[in-house]
Amino acid sequence: MTNIYVYSSSILAKAADTIKNGGLVAFPTETVYGLGANAFDAKAVAKIFEAKGRPNFNPLISHIAEIDTLFELAKTDERVIALAKQFWPGPLTFILNRKNLNSSFDLVCAGLPTLSVRMPNHPVALELIKKSGTPIAAPSANRSQSISPTTARHVYESLGNRIDMILDGGACNIGVESTIIDLTTSQTVMLRAGGLAKEELEKFLNEEVVLSHGNPDLPSSPGQMLKHYAPRIPTRINVAPDDRKENEFYIGFGNMECNLNLSSKSDLIEAAANLFAFMHLAEEQTKYPAIAIAPIPNTSLGLAINDRIKRASYNK
Ligand code: TXA
Ligand code: MG
Repeated sequence: MTNIYVYSSSILAKAADTIKNGGLVAFPTETVYGLGANAFDAKAVAKIFEAKGRPNFNPLISHIAEIDTLFELAKTDERVIALAKQFWPGPLTFILNRKNLNSSFDLVCAGLPTLSVRMPNHPVALELIKKSGTPIAAPSANRSQSISPTTARHVYESLGNRIDMILDGGACNIGVESTIIDLTTSQTVMLRAGGLAKEELEKFLNEEVVLSHGNPDLPSSPGQMLKHYAPRIPTRINVAPDDRKENEFYIGFGNMECNLNLSSKSDLIEAAANLFAFMHLAEEQTKYPAIAIAPIPNTSLGLAINDRIKRASYNK
């Protein structure tokens, strides 16, 4: 028995309900299949990382169906609006500064002050986003390290029944991921080559598009991309309750006394959903000059949590 459902309007309604209720739905876009969750439901987003078996939290693309949503999520300017008018819906993703600083949106952005957003050019994707009534966070719908899926069958082979539904809308016609451009500076920087050619962008912008050195799909080691987002105060990790110092704001895990508990019932999905919001709170409080984080089991989502907090402590 597979969980592949061929598109129909009643199946679409079921998929939208699944997203609204915090579930995971794989859906077709014009580039590759995405593994979708409500972008504002941190627990649902944590389940994406768990299903993919990703050993780290990289930021996910928020998929939108209406231009107004872009203005709610991100800071925009004339260049952004012109590019959106020209290339959306389509295989082009923008990195922009966040306008929505809601902590429930932190995990999608991996705690960064930026977000990535695109409007996919696929009727099933657009209808799903509209019916769900929320932006949909979606990486490619495959296990970590495997190739991106372009059919519902590929999704099933990679993720099987780890997810609630696979919405089958046929084969993706582009077959490679979207082109990603960083628009947070006056230079237009291409972070990932994809479905929209660099030349097309250059012709439209009438200027050179710079290629970045980093590949956003390669795991970044400590000190790379995420180093800027470490808490501004010293952070120790793997600190057992007995080893906590008096001047430390203590983030716990499991049944223990602490300032904030990632999950008192030791649930790694709950812990992942709380992580970025708690790190921000720990940094913003003024009572303690340092942070300590309790040991987190290094299994399942614990790998990604440990990766992230290791970066946080590495820079201090
Ligand atoms: O075609 C696509 O883009 C597909 C479909 C499903 O839309 N999605 C996709 O998502 O390829 P994903 O998660 O596999 O790739 C998104 C890439 C990641 O490499 C991530 O690191 C980068 O975008 N990214 C996302 N937000 C970012 C940000 N704020 N800053 C830098 N890189 C970012
Ligand atoms: Mg991918």
